[in-house]
Amino acid sequence: MSDTGPETNTKSVFIKTYGCQMNVYDSERMKDVLAPIGYAPTDSPEGADLVVLNTCHIREKATEKVYSELGKIKKMKHAQGGKMTIAVAGCVAQAEGAEIMRRQPAVDLVLGPQAYHKLPEMIARVHRSTGERLETEFETLEKFDALPKTRQADGPMAFLSVQEGCDKFCTFCVVPYTRGAELSRPVDDITLEARNLASQGVREIQLLGQNVNAYHGAAPVIEAGDEWTLAQLVRHLSKIGGFDRIRYTTSHPRDMDDDLIAAHADTPELMPFLHLPVQSGSNNILKAMNRGHTREHYLDIMRRMKEARPDMALASDFIVGFPGESDKDFEDTMDLVREVGYAIAYSFKYSERPGTPAAEMFGQVPEDVKNERLQALQALLREQQTAFNASKIGETVPVLVTGTGRNEGQMHGRSPWLQAVHFDGAPDLVGQIIDVEIVGSSLNSLSGTLPSGANEAAA
Ligand code: SAH
Ligand code: SF4
Ligand code: F3S
Repeated sequence: MSDTGPETNTKSVFIKTYGCQMNVYDSERMKDVLAPIGYAPTDSPEGADLVVLNTCHIREKATEKVYSELGKIKKMKHAQGGKMTIAVAGCVAQAEGAEIMRRQPAVDLVLGPQAYHKLPEMIARVHRSTGERLETEFETLEKFDALPKTRQADGPMAFLSVQEGCDKFCTFCVVPYTRGAELSRPVDDITLEARNLASQGVREIQLLGQNVNAYHGAAPVIEAGDEWTLAQLVRHLSKIGGFDRIRYTTSHPRDMDDDLIAAHADTPELMPFLHLPVQSGSNNILKAMNRGHTREHYLDIMRRMKEARPDMALASDFIVGFPGESDKDFEDTMDLVREVGYAIAYSFKYSERPGTPAAEMFGQVPEDVKNERLQALQALLREQQTAFNASKIGETVPVLVTGTGRNEGQMHGRSPWLQAVHFDGAPDLVGQIIDVEIVGSSLNSLSGTLPSGANEAAA
């Protein structure tokens, strides 16, 4: 503790987040690291003392966005007479490193996903104009150990990273190179962070990992055994009190075990939603992607999940136009989609990523074919999503109220199946789980009303 007391000279930080939920989590943690040195978050880069772009490298477009955003921010920096520190974090930082500062000299520092705890030290170096301005080492556990133990919760839902990195090396994917080897946090660490969130009113927690069901963290020190699985972690978190809802994302079919399927049947806190990306419905393409599982194996998991929890909403990611994908391969994907019936799914055109094996493969698919396939797939997925949402009309569903809507009296929340729900109600419902009768639906949300008198006890 310094005898001058806490920093009073408040500065502002603007963080823009691209990519997956793990980046959203990391951005929150960067705010936690910056708060003690006097940085308060702001909603606009204009006038900010520090601008952080937390970037995504997954597809070419994602990376391009970063450079065009940097061009805009550079102009703001000049307009402020250079009084702005620009940091590039995340997966582009990890993949391109010093190249970013060469391409955009207005950038002051570059730090990979494992270096966020070093942010204050790096900012100090920039201000002193000495020392290295690039940190792209892989030291995942060091990062988690060094981040503050408490975090500022932001509403009744929170993300919690439990696992990082990936050893799967799908032939199209940059994640193993940007996030490093697969690593799980110890259960005790996670429990501490979870308890802290619960004490701030968090009711729904989403456990995150690039391969979250590969979780194998060190067991609690007071328990026997070496490592716990994700199913054990979920059951444990359901008992520590505070959480009514637990989710996890993203899973890999290869790591799905019987106990996790069973947990969906025996742990009511575990929400009926499974995001299990398959990428393709063709065994030829799955093999070329190095996914390590077949179409049949995937379909079997989906079937067993539905058996364990009949109201399970199923979700996936798809890539169309992977090198060598024939019309027949694509039809296999369409066919798989028809067989599973998705509540929601994300689909992308294959994007060539430098350094990945697929970028060197023969049979790259022409852009117009990719476009056609994507349109056909997305039309089918939209149809399924619309039907899934409509199937809730007439049901009374428990909704976690997350905030107020644009117009007075409008509230929004989330269903157990991750749908956005809009309804009229009082602002003091935020943070509660209430019954809402669903009266309408669209592609992206549900609308409902409060059954008369039903929630008075809760209000
Ligand atoms: N760990 C998760 C996915 C992380 S990346 C998993 O294994 O499923 C998120 C999604 O981006 C992937 O599921 C995939 O559909 C898509 N994606 C990854 N690399 C891509 C590429 N080169 N081109 C197009 N889409 C890609
Ligand atoms: Fe990428 Fe495959 Fe790892 Fe998912 S499992 S992050 S798609 S390499
Ligand atoms: Fe993008 Fe990195 Fe996530 S590449 S999808 S931000 S792990």
